[in-house]
Amino acid sequence: MSPSDAFSRVALSLYFLLSASRVALATNPFVQYAVDFPDPNLITAGNSDARFGGAQDTIVAWAESMASYGPWSVTNKPVVAPSGDKHDYMSWAPYQWPDCSKAGNTTVLSDADMWKTCAYVFRDGQVNPDRFLIEDFQSFFNLSDAVLYNSIASTLQNKSSSVYSQNVVKFVNAWFLDADTGMNPNLNYAQMNRGPSGQQGEYTGILDLRGFAKIASGILILRKSGNTDWTADIDAKLIAWCDKYIDWLNTSPSGTTAGNATNNHGTIFVNQMAGLKLIVKDVPAAATLTQGYFTGIFQKQLQANGDQPMEASRTHPYHYRNFNIAGMVTNARLLSYADPSSTPWKSTANGATIQTTIDFLMTTDPAAKGEANITSEIYPNVAAIASAYGDPDGKYVKFLSAPVSRTRRMRHSFGIR
Ligand SMILES: *[C@@H]1O[C@H](CO)[C@@H](O)[C@H](O)[C@H]1NC(C)=O
Ligand SMILES: *[C@@H]1O[C@H](CO)[C@@H](O)[C@H](O)[C@H]1NC(C)=O
Ligand SMILES: *[C@@H]1O[C@H](CO)[C@@H](O)[C@H](O)[C@H]1NC(C)=O
Ligand SMILES: *[C@@H]1O[C@H](CO)[C@@H](O)[C@H](O)[C@H]1NC(C)=O
Ligand SMILES: *[C@@H]1O[C@H](CO)[C@@H](O)[C@H](O)[C@H]1NC(C)=O
Repeated sequence: MSPSDAFSRVALSLYFLLSASRVALATNPFVQYAVDFPDPNLITAGNSDARFGGAQDTIVAWAESMASYGPWSVTNKPVVAPSGDKHDYMSWAPYQWPDCSKAGNTTVLSDADMWKTCAYVFRDGQVNPDRFLIEDFQSFFNLSDAVLYNSIASTLQNKSSSVYSQNVVKFVNAWFLDADTGMNPNLNYAQMNRGPSGQQGEYTGILDLRGFAKIASGILILRKSGNTDWTADIDAKLIAWCDKYIDWLNTSPSGTTAGNATNNHGTIFVNQMAGLKLIVKDVPAAATLTQGYFTGIFQKQLQANGDQPMEASRTHPYHYRNFNIAGMVTNARLLSYADPSSTPWKSTANGATIQTTIDFLMTTDPAAKGEANITSEIYPNVAAIASAYGDPDGKYVKFLSAPVSRTRRMRHSFGIR
C-alpha cells in the first residue's frame, strides 16, 4: 500500500484531524468518538509514513489515559438492578424526570422510594443529572476506547506482548468474564425507566453498548498481529460471551425493537451487531448486516439535499444528525472490512451519499437550536468523509482548520439516545 493509499483510507481519520488543526500532542485532549471501526487490516499493515507520527503519539497517549480509569465492572455501581443480581448491567433513561405530585406522599421521599413510587415523564434532550449516579454506560464507553487504543498502541510497539495488550486482557476479563465482576450477557435494565410502570430496560438502552464496534476492531487487531497476551483461551471465552449476548439481542423485546428502528437506533444497532459478528468470527454475517443497512433503512434516512428528517426533528438536531452520520461511517467501514469488494461509500439514497449528508450539515448552524457548544461533534465526521472521499478542493481541511479552540470542548457529549 502506498502512503497516499494509506492516507486516503486512514481509518482513524486522526492524522487528518490533527494535522489540519495543528494541535500539538500536549494540547490534544482525549476525545470520545461516538462510534468507530478502524480497519484492523490497515492498522496491522504497519505503515510507518512519517505523517502518521502525530496520530500514533496521540493514540498511545489516549491508550494510557483511558487505561488509567480501568478496570471497569458492572458490579461497581452503588445500586443493584431490580433483578437483585449485581452482575446485571443497568442505566437510567437519560431524559426521564420524576413527577411525584401523584405519589400520595406529603413527606419527602428517599431517593430509593422516589425511583419506585413516582411517575417518570419524558423531556427530550434534557438529561436528568442523576443518570450519572450509575456509571455502567460511561464505564462501557471508556472500556471500548481503552480496548481500541491499547490494541492499536500494542501493534505500534512491534512486539508480541506489551503493557498495552496486557491492559486489554485485564479489562476484557474484568468486564465480561471474571466470575466476581463479569456482566451477564443481557441489557434487561439498560436505559431503564423508573416509577411504578418502569423498572425495566428500554430498546433505547441498546445504544449503551455501541462501543462493541470499537472493541471488535481492537480484538481483531490483536488477533491479526499475533499478539501472545490475547490467548486462545480468552478469545474463546469472549466469543462464548458474545454468542449469548447476540442471542439476547435477537430475542429480547429491547433488542428486536432496536433492530427494527429506522433512525439512529437502527443504524447503530447494525454497528454493534456487525462488531459482535466479527468478534465471533462470522464475517459473512457482518457483511450481510451492513450491506442490509445500506439497501435498507439508509434508504429512508436521507433526503436528496443530504438532510436526515428523522434526526432533524429532534430537540438536538445537530447532535443527532452527527450521531447518525458517525453510525453510517462506521457501517461503511465495517462493510469495507467484511467485504472488500463492496462499495458502501458510493451507496445513494434519494441521490444522496454519506458525503452529501456532511456537506449539508457543514452548512447548518448549530446555534440555531442552541447547540453551539457541541459544534465539535462534526469534526470526526468531516475527517472521516475527507479520508473516504478525498478533498480535492481543500474544503474539508479548511473547515477543520478554522476552529481550533472549539475542538477542546469536545468531550462526552455524544449521543445517549
Ligand atoms: C412516604 O415517604 C416516606 C419517607 O420517604 C416513606 O417512608 C413512606 O414509605 C412513603 N409512603 C408512601 C405511601 O409512599
Ligand atoms: C471515563 O473517562 C473520562 C475521561 O475521558 C473520565 O473523566 C471519567 O471519569 C471516566 N469514567 C469512568 C467510569 O471510567
Ligand atoms: C515499529 O516499526 C515501524 C516500522 O518499521 C517503526 O517505524 C517504528 O518506530 C517501530 N516502533 C517501535 C515502538 O519500535
Ligand atoms: C424485527 O422484529 C421482528 C419481530 O419482532 C423480529 O423477529 C426481528 O428479529 C427484528 N429484526 C431485528 C434486526 O432485530
Ligand atoms: C450545552 O449547553 C446546554 C444548554 O446551554 C447544556 O444543557 C449542555 O449540557 C451543554 N453541553 C455540553 C456538552 O457542554
